[in-house]
Amino acid sequence: MDLHKLDTYAKSLIKEAAYNIKTSLSSELIIESKSEANDLVTNIDKETEQFFIRHIKADFAEHRIFGEEGFGDDIKDLNGYVWLLDPIDGTTNFIHQKQNFAISLGIFKDGVGILGYIYNVMEDSLLSGSLNGGAYLDDLRLPKLSSASVEEAVVGVNARWVVPNRYVHYEGMVKLLQTVRGTRSLGSAAIEISYVVTGRLDAYMSMRLSPWDIAGGLVIAKEVGAIATNLAFEHLDLLDADSFIVSKPGLHEELLKDYIQLK
Ligand code: IPD
Ligand code: CA
Ligand code: CA
Repeated sequence: MDLHKLDTYAKSLIKEAAYNIKTSLSSELIIESKSEANDLVTNIDKETEQFFIRHIKADFAEHRIFGEEGFGDDIKDLNGYVWLLDPIDGTTNFIHQKQNFAISLGIFKDGVGILGYIYNVMEDSLLSGSLNGGAYLDDLRLPKLSSASVEEAVVGVNARWVVPNRYVHYEGMVKLLQTVRGTRSLGSAAIEISYVVTGRLDAYMSMRLSPWDIAGGLVIAKEVGAIATNLAFEHLDLLDADSFIVSKPGLHEELLKDYIQLK
């Protein structure tokens, strides 16, 4: 399979899907809850995933799709070509703000990320990366990230980290918030990962993300030297939900060692 051809194909699907999403903004959304009241999905999330699946299945019959809304394949391994797709990452933003949401896509071959994309739909900016081919923001090649100190870091965390929770001891996070330069919370994991890759954030962490939230970002992050692991400093499993942290080198180790204490 020609990587360049696959890349061109994936980009054109993303652009068309994004055009359809933008067009849909003038009509009324059908909003439903999934696992709990605030876990939202709209008809556009579903239609966008179906759009990708229709095209991929027609053009690459042997490729499989691991999509958030469940219209793809039942994925139990990453053998062959697997597309990990979040049709709209940041659905709450999509509904409430009509901005700050992204299409997140990673293409893996036998478990190795070969192409990754995060398309910020309303900003019309495409972050992409290919295995050993570098990372790009539209046509601009991104430089490798250098390390940052905790004191000078702007970190992507949300308020849940500093109240009692089932994942981490919040006292360590209070200490972190008292030490860092600033914090931000954007409401889309994919966009937050894209901010780390482009140097707008120094780190981003989440207590629980799914494979489709991070797959595209992982491919891109690797190309700029960002470190991505779960909060136990282990390799990320792309078949299941896991905790997540992506950061500049050096900072990653410091955050996990000195501030984030898992329960
Ligand atoms: C969510 C967003 C959010 C993150 C959640 C994700 P969705 O994805 O990325 O920022 O905190 O954990 O589930 O549901 O909007 O695709
Ligand atoms: Ca998501
Ligand atoms: Ca989603």
